[in-house]
Amino acid sequence: MKKLYHGAAYYPELWDEETIAQDIQLMKEAGINVVRIGEFAWSSIEPEEGSLDSTFFKEVIQTLYDNGIETIICTPTPTPPVWLTHGFEERLFVNQEGQKMGHGSRQHICTNNKYFRKKAGEVTKHLAQELGSLPGVIAWQLDNEFKSHVAECFCSTCENLWHQWLEKKFGKIERLNEKWGTHIWSQHYQSFEQVPQPAATPFLHNSSLVTNYRIFSMEKTAEFANEQAAIIRQCCDQPITHNSSIAFQVDNEELFQQLDFASYDTYASQENMAAYLINCDYWRNVKKDSPFWVMETSPSYSGSLAGYASPHPDGYVKAEAAAAYSLGAEGFCYWLWRQQRTGCEQPHGSIISAWGTPAIGYKNVLEVEEARQELEPILLHTRPLQAEAAITYSDRAKVFLQTEPHQKLQYRSLITDFYERLLKMGIHRDLIPEQADLSGYKLLFTPFIHYLSDEYIDRARRFAEQGGIWLAGPLTGGRTKEHTIHTKAALGCLEQAANVKVLQTYPMDGTDSVGSAFGEEAVLSMWSAVFDDKSSRAMGHIKQGMSVGKSFLSESRIGKGKIVMLGSMPAGEPGDRMLKKLIHHYAEEAGLGLQTDAENGTIVAPRFNDEGIVWVVINMDGKGGSITLPKDGIDLLKRKNIQKGTLKVGPYEYTVIQFKTESGESGWEKEECGQVKSRSFGTRQQV
Ligand code: GAL
Ligand code: ZN
Repeated sequence: MKKLYHGAAYYPELWDEETIAQDIQLMKEAGINVVRIGEFAWSSIEPEEGSLDSTFFKEVIQTLYDNGIETIICTPTPTPPVWLTHGFEERLFVNQEGQKMGHGSRQHICTNNKYFRKKAGEVTKHLAQELGSLPGVIAWQLDNEFKSHVAECFCSTCENLWHQWLEKKFGKIERLNEKWGTHIWSQHYQSFEQVPQPAATPFLHNSSLVTNYRIFSMEKTAEFANEQAAIIRQCCDQPITHNSSIAFQVDNEELFQQLDFASYDTYASQENMAAYLINCDYWRNVKKDSPFWVMETSPSYSGSLAGYASPHPDGYVKAEAAAAYSLGAEGFCYWLWRQQRTGCEQPHGSIISAWGTPAIGYKNVLEVEEARQELEPILLHTRPLQAEAAITYSDRAKVFLQTEPHQKLQYRSLITDFYERLLKMGIHRDLIPEQADLSGYKLLFTPFIHYLSDEYIDRARRFAEQGGIWLAGPLTGGRTKEHTIHTKAALGCLEQAANVKVLQTYPMDGTDSVGSAFGEEAVLSMWSAVFDDKSSRAMGHIKQGMSVGKSFLSESRIGKGKIVMLGSMPAGEPGDRMLKKLIHHYAEEAGLGLQTDAENGTIVAPRFNDEGIVWVVINMDGKGGSITLPKDGIDLLKRKNIQKGTLKVGPYEYTVIQFKTESGESGWEKEECGQVKSRSFGTRQQV
C-alpha cells in the first residue's frame, strides 16, 4: 500500500466542459485523489451499436491525472443502451412472477443472454484497449453492484442454462431424482429438460430445486465477472474488483476468488454502526493479500425519488473513514461527487450540489481528508492484526435460509446481531469466508449455517484438535448439500465430529422452553437441537418446556481443544446476557488476548509493525468513550507519552496509541506468549 485513497463516484458524461473543469478544481480543494467513472456510461460510449468511442473519457482521465487525481474505470454493463433491448424482449430479465423488466433503470437485461455477453465483452475490450494504459488508471471495477436490484432470472436463456448446469452437476437425471427425492408429490423427472425453474406454483417448490436454482444463478454471475476480468487482463495489469455487498444475491466468496481486491458499498446509518463495521471485518478477509476499499458510501445521506435517509450527524463520516482505514481499507469513496440533475436519484446526498456549491456533506469530506492525512503515515507503516476470534460468514448459508427461513429469519440480520455481540464485548473479530484458513485463530463461531460441508467440518475439527475452540450453532448442520434432511443423524457428520447425540429437533419458539447456563436463565428460541449428554458434557440445561432435563449446549474435548454445540438460541435480554457469558467463558478458555474494555460505541482497530502494537481507538456513537490502556504507550498523533489506565476519546474522535514492546512482550493485556500472528504474511510474528 503506497497511499490512502479518498474518492468519489464521478459522472463527467453528464456535464459540460466548464462544469468538469470546475469539478476538478473543487475535487482538489476537497482532497479527492481518486474518482470512479464509467459504470453507467454505455450509451455515451456506444450510442449506436458498433460505434464505440471513448475519446471523451480518455481526455477526462488525462485531465484528472494532470490535476493529481487517479481513476478507477468501470465496465458499463449494468445499464445496456436501448438498442440492445428494444425489439428484443427475449434479452430482458424475467422475475419469478414472470414479469419482464424494461429499459429505463438498470439491471433489466439477462446477464446470461448470449448476445448481451458478446456486446458486454466488446465494450469491455474497447475500454481496456483504449483507456487501460492511460496514466492514473489504478484499477478496474466490473459492472456495478451485481444483483442488487434483482435476484434469479427466469427467462428462457436461463432455463436452458439451468438444464445444462444440472446435467453437468448430476450427469444422469436419475441421480438428481434420487438426491432431491422427487417421488415426493410426483415430481419425478425423465430428463433434465423437464426440470422447472422455481417460478410460480400453487404452493412451495421442492427445497432442493429452489436452493440449487439460487446457487446456479450465483455461479452464473461469478462466471460473467470472470469473463469480463479475463478480457481486461488481456491488455491491462491493473487490479480488478467489483463493488459488492453482503446484501446482494451473490456468493461473494466465489465472486472474488478470481478478482484482485475486495470492495463494497455501504449506506448504514450511525445508529446501525454494527452494520457498517461488519463490512470492514468481513471484506478484510475476502482477499487477504490486498487491502479492501469502501467503494461507495454516502457523504451525508442516501436518497432517491422513493425517499431519503437522514443526514449523518456531524463527525460520523470522519469516524467511519477512520474505522475503515484503520481496519484495513486502502480507499474510502463516496457516492457521489456532484448531485444528479436528472434520473431518479436527484435527492441523494452529494459532495457538491448540482449548481456547484458545497452540499451539506462537504464539510464531512474535508474532515475525512484531514483524518486521512493524519492517519496515512501511521497506517502505511503498520498492518491490521489478524483477530483471534473468527465468525464464519457464508452467502450460501444465506441461500439456504432464503429457501427455508423458518419464521422470516434473515441471514444478514442474524449474523450482524451475532457479530455485534463480539463487537460490544470489545473482542477483536474477523468474519471469514467458508473456505478460509483457520490458522492463527483460537475461537471459531459457526452460527446459522443450515448446510455445513464435510470439508468445513473436517477443517474445523482439525482446528479443535490442535487446540482451538469451535462453537457451532445455533441452526447449524441440519441440512445436506441438496437441502434435504440427514437420515443417519439429525446433524449428519457434525454429530460424529462433535461427539454429540441429537435426540430431537423442533421449533422451541412458543413452547415456553427455558434453558440455564453460566448462571443465567433464558427462553430458548428458534429451530433447536436437543442433546443427549452421554458422550459430551452438558453446559446448558433445559429447565422448562418439552425437553426438561436435556441439554441445549454441550461441549466435547477434541484433541487439545473443544467443539461446543449450541442447539438453541437463548432469547431476549437474559438470552443476550447468557450468550455474552458463554462467549466470555470460551474466550477465556481459548486464551484470547485481543480484547479490550472499550465501552459500547467505541472501537479499537489493532495493528502492528516491527516495533509493536498500535491501537487506533475510535468513538463511533458520538457520545465519546473510554478504554483502559494495559500499559504505557505513546500517543502518536500528539507525540507524547501516555500512561496506562483510562484513555478518553471525544465524540467521533480517534486516538492512536503505540505500545512500546520489549522483545517477547506485547501490547495486549492478556497476551502471554508474546506472539501475534501477522495477517498478511501468515507467519508468526514476534512483537
Ligand atoms: C448504490 C449504487 C449507486 C447509487 C447508490 C445510491 O447502491 O451503486 O449507483 O445508486 O446506491 O445510494
Ligand atoms: Zn435470464
